[in-house]
Amino acid sequence: MDSKTKIISIGAQDSDERLTQLLAPAAEVIRRGGLVAFPTETVYGLGADGTNPDAAAKIYEAKGRPSDNPLIIHISSPEEAEEYAYTNEVYYRIASAFMPGPVTVILKAKPTVPERTRGGLETVALRCPSHPIAKKLISLAGVPIAAPSANISGSPSPTTASHVIDDMMGRADIIIDGGDCDFGLESTIISAHESEGVVLLRPGRITVNDIQALGIEVRVADAVTDRLREGEVALSPGMKYRHYAPSAEVILLDGDGKGRYEYISKIKGKVAVIAYSEEMEPYKALDGVCAYDFGSSEDKLGQAHRLFDILRTADKENYDVIFAPLPSTDGIGLALYNRMIRAAAHKIIKL
Ligand code: TXA
Ligand code: MG
Repeated sequence: MDSKTKIISIGAQDSDERLTQLLAPAAEVIRRGGLVAFPTETVYGLGADGTNPDAAAKIYEAKGRPSDNPLIIHISSPEEAEEYAYTNEVYYRIASAFMPGPVTVILKAKPTVPERTRGGLETVALRCPSHPIAKKLISLAGVPIAAPSANISGSPSPTTASHVIDDMMGRADIIIDGGDCDFGLESTIISAHESEGVVLLRPGRITVNDIQALGIEVRVADAVTDRLREGEVALSPGMKYRHYAPSAEVILLDGDGKGRYEYISKIKGKVAVIAYSEEMEPYKALDGVCAYDFGSSEDKLGQAHRLFDILRTADKENYDVIFAPLPSTDGIGLALYNRMIRAAAHKIIKL
């Protein structure tokens, strides 16, 4: 089964000409309705022709993803959105500040987007990535690329080619190995299709402050920080599904470094701890505890870059529990908080 998937490796030093040459077969696969996993500046995506409903069906099947969970359409320039959506002023303000880049905007869809690609919704998510491989692949394919994160549904998004290989070998036609993703968490999603206002549905590299600095009033959807209440309809269908969850129980500890250490040192069993670099040392002396370096407590970009790799690595070790610090919710912290409370299924212990 594995022999079905071809891996194409691309180095950062490859020239534009070489990039075109290496990506030509992948662009051909997209045009023919196949699946190509590719790197972006956020996480790896599993791409297919965004105008082809049968190709979208293949994505859902490969990921084991419910078909009511819509896909993001990746375009090669912000203006291309005109072809697929009813754009507005908010879209162009965000686009001129942050595209190409790690942001996705939800607009009312035009009929050019197949219903299956948008999970039956009236709206469509549009993103113009900045990663040179993603950009080149979209322009060579000559069609927009529908792509969710290239993981099996429910597991953390892949941030390295080896994560993609773990999940998509035998499922995708081509996996493009373009090295590690820069940011490491998925794009910021902003809903801008309603007259009632602009809503942040998923926090990411582009922060609430970044959006407000453009003079746009933005509300953070409750589901970003809270659990959906019984019967509540998710603004973004993806919010209602279990996410980023390793098979071990994940518990977030709300306290300082000393409090976390004291708590963990009393735990019996095979446990892992995700610890800030400056707090790593004492854990090394604890029996039965394996510590993963999350980066310095001040370095939120470093933490975002490492989080999914740590969760995937730890998941292979069959720990009883994985403990992690509860992040603050300011700036990029909100993106970390959002992913981590979902990995922990909202289990937080106040120390
Ligand atoms: O960084 C990213 O955004 C990555 C890379 C590959 O571009 N993509 C990504 O896609 O994270 P995915 O499918 O894993 O997450 C997209 C989220 C899902 O939760 C989905 O429900 C939501 O976006 N979404 C897509 N279209 C939507 C729409 N029209 N309205 C509301 N939410 C939407
Ligand atoms: Mg995803």
